[in-house]
Amino acid sequence: MSTVTLSLHFLVVLSTISLFIHVSSSSIINPSKVKQISWKPRAFVYEGFLTELECDHLISLAKTELKRSAVADNLSGESKLSEVRTSSGMFISKGKDVIVSGIEDKISTWTFLPKENGEDMQMLRYEHGQKYDPHYDYFVDKVNIARGGHRMATVLMYLSDVTKGGETVFPVAEEPPRRRTPAKNDDFSECAKKGVAVKPRRGDALLFFSLHPDAVPDPNSLHAGCPVIEGEKWSATKWIHVDSFDKNVANSGNCTDQNESCERWANLGECTNNPEYMVGTAELPGYCRRSCKVC
Ligand SMILES: *[C@@H]1O[C@H](CO)[C@@H](O)[C@H](O)[C@H]1NC(C)=O
Ligand SMILES: *[C@@H]1O[C@H](CO)[C@@H](O)[C@H](O)[C@H]1NC(C)=O
Ligand SMILES: *[C@@H]1O[C@H](CO)[C@@H](O)[C@H](O)[C@H]1NC(C)=O
Repeated sequence: MSTVTLSLHFLVVLSTISLFIHVSSSSIINPSKVKQISWKPRAFVYEGFLTELECDHLISLAKTELKRSAVADNLSGESKLSEVRTSSGMFISKGKDVIVSGIEDKISTWTFLPKENGEDMQMLRYEHGQKYDPHYDYFVDKVNIARGGHRMATVLMYLSDVTKGGETVFPVAEEPPRRRTPAKNDDFSECAKKGVAVKPRRGDALLFFSLHPDAVPDPNSLHAGCPVIEGEKWSATKWIHVDSFDKNVANSGNCTDQNESCERWANLGECTNNPEYMVGTAELPGYCRRSCKVC
C-alpha cells in the first residue's frame, strides 16, 4: 500500500472518530439501554437518557421561571389565580438553548418522530403528597387537536430520584406475565402496585404511545403520577403529535392577544390547560391566540 493510501485511510478513521465524539454527547441512542415495560400500551424505559448536566439544567430553568412568575403575579395582584398553576408547572420553549435543543434532538432520534411534532417541554415539580390523577394524554375535543392533531406519544423524563412514591403507573395496562417478581415490587408504593409502574430515577425516560399504530386512541394508555411519599419529584414531559405543532393554522390576518397577560399564561401552560379561554374555536376565538401560536 502506498503512503498516500495509508494516510487517506488514516484520515477517514480520524474523521469517523471525531464525528462520533461530536455526536455522542447529545443524539446517539443506545438501544440496549431501552427496556419494554408493556405492549398495551406500548411503553418503554430508557435508562440514563439524560446526563446529570441536562437534568440540572432543566431544573434550574424551571426554578428561575417559577420564581419570575410568582413575582410577576405578586406585582399584578393575580396571585390567587396563579398559585395553583405555578405549583403545577411551566413550559420550556422549544430550542430555548443548546442543551434543550440537544435533548429534543435526542428525543427525536429515540422516538423516530420529527422534532417539529413536539410541544414545548412541560416541567413539573411534585412535593410531598402531590400526585397526578389517572388521565389520558390524547384529547377528544376539537380545540385541542386543532394544532398538530392528536398527541400520539409522550416522553416523560425523570430529573430527580424520589425516595418513596412518585411512580408513573398504568392502571389498565396489560402486563406481560414474566414481569413483576415479588422482590422487585418491594420498593413500589401501594399506588404503583395497582398496575404496571415505573419508578422515577434521575436521568431515566419513559416513552409511551397514546395511539395505536392505526391512529386510534389506546385506552390502555391511561396513566397517573403516584403521590410522592418521601422526597421531591421533578419531571419534564414532551408530548408529540401526529403532525407539526409549529405549523400555523388558518390565519384570518388578525392575529392578536386580547389580554396583556397572554404570553405569561401561555408560558405557564394555559394554552393546553385552559384551551376554551386561551384558544377558543373558529366560531368563538379565544383570548390568547397569538401567544398560543394558533394564528
Ligand atoms: C408578595 O407581596 C407581599 C406583600 O405585598 C409580600 O409579603 C410577599 O413576600 C410577596 N411574595 C413574593 C413571592 O414576592
Ligand atoms: C381584529 O380582532 C379584534 C378583536 O376581536 C377586533 O376588534 C378587530 O376589529 C379585528 N380587526 C380586523 C382587521 O379584523
Ligand atoms: C386580563 O385578564 C385579567 C384577569 O382575568 C383581567 O382582570 C383583566 O381585566 C384583563 N385585561 C383585559 C384588557 O381584558
